[in-house]
Amino acid sequence: MTAPKDTTMEPLVRLDHIHVRHKARSGGLLRRDAVHALTDASLEVRRGEILGLVGESGCGKSTLARVVTGLQRPTEGEVYFKGQDLWRMPAAERRTRFGASVGVIFQDPSTALNPRLSVSRILRDPLDVHGRGTQAERARRVEELLDLVGLPGHTMGALPGQLSGGQRQRVAIARALALEPELIVADEPTSALDVSVRAQILNLLVDLRSRLGLAMVFISHDVQTVRYLADRIAVLYLGRVVEEGRAAQVSGASRHPYTEALLSATPSLLERPERIVLHGPVPSATNPPSGCPFRTRCWKADDACATVFPAVSDGGDGHRWHCVHPQPAADTAAAV
Ligand SMILES: Nc1ncnc2c1ncn2[C@@H]1O[C@H](COP(=O)(O)OP(=O)(O)O)[C@@H](O)[C@H]1O
Ligand SMILES: [Mg+2]
Repeated sequence: MTAPKDTTMEPLVRLDHIHVRHKARSGGLLRRDAVHALTDASLEVRRGEILGLVGESGCGKSTLARVVTGLQRPTEGEVYFKGQDLWRMPAAERRTRFGASVGVIFQDPSTALNPRLSVSRILRDPLDVHGRGTQAERARRVEELLDLVGLPGHTMGALPGQLSGGQRQRVAIARALALEPELIVADEPTSALDVSVRAQILNLLVDLRSRLGLAMVFISHDVQTVRYLADRIAVLYLGRVVEEGRAAQVSGASRHPYTEALLSATPSLLERPERIVLHGPVPSATNPPSGCPFRTRCWKADDACATVFPAVSDGGDGHRWHCVHPQPAADTAAAV
């Protein structure tokens, strides 16, 4: 018997120098510019950890989610799942083995769930598609899933439209868990929800992670939410990973000015010396600035920032950033 190659030391997912270029939605028929949704992004998702992914709208978070879940094939670069190159696997293996190992939760549960199917049908569907268990076992699994996400049994017969937003997102979470994945990718899972139920859904995700030993990629434009949940944080700016590290490092001792600006923009318990206000929107991903993409909004930028994307600096213990003029190490370290 040949067991699938699985080096347990390998991270669950490893992205190696990923580029994703889309054809621009606008532009003429003949001249369609490229949208640089991701540029040279390398990241690891380790077993059992929550990796938080943060950045403003348009920075490439959803594209990265699609790459991690195998929904988007990168233009360049490799995606490894437990050491195996995802896009060199036979398509059938990619669907069955990898597809069952990764669950996805999208932002808006009202569009992610088929409005014509009952909750039990929605939860059964992945079990049917992957031929998991007998009819009776599938029925039992549906009950178990409802229980897992804290939905009462009577919701089984309901249509998504008969549920509240929070309940619908619980259904979406249950569906993502149906095949017992090792990884959940949650792309802004609370952004479309009422403020009053957001904390419940976040707590459910944290609770599920510890009960099921899942790894999770948690995506949000809100750095405060990410720092509350994540073990490690990666900060994306205009398709680039500009800083990454343990959550305490990135949120308490950030070195990249963009991270600092994100932290400063949202209220937190931390006292920050001055509030940094970012002016204007994220520049176009069709024509990203040369050198450091953040330089057009950065208060520290000078000519040195315009030439090449800054090389990686390593603060040890997995803390890395790309900046010519990083925040000083000393004046933020006390906050951890
Ligand atoms: N299918 C697509 N076609 C063209 N451009 C796209 C497509 N998907 C995303 N983009 C562009 O890629 C960039 C990154 O988008 P996205 O990954 O959705 O960012 P985020 O989730 O951080 O808001 C944006 O400029 C967006 O407009
Ligand atoms: Mg998005």
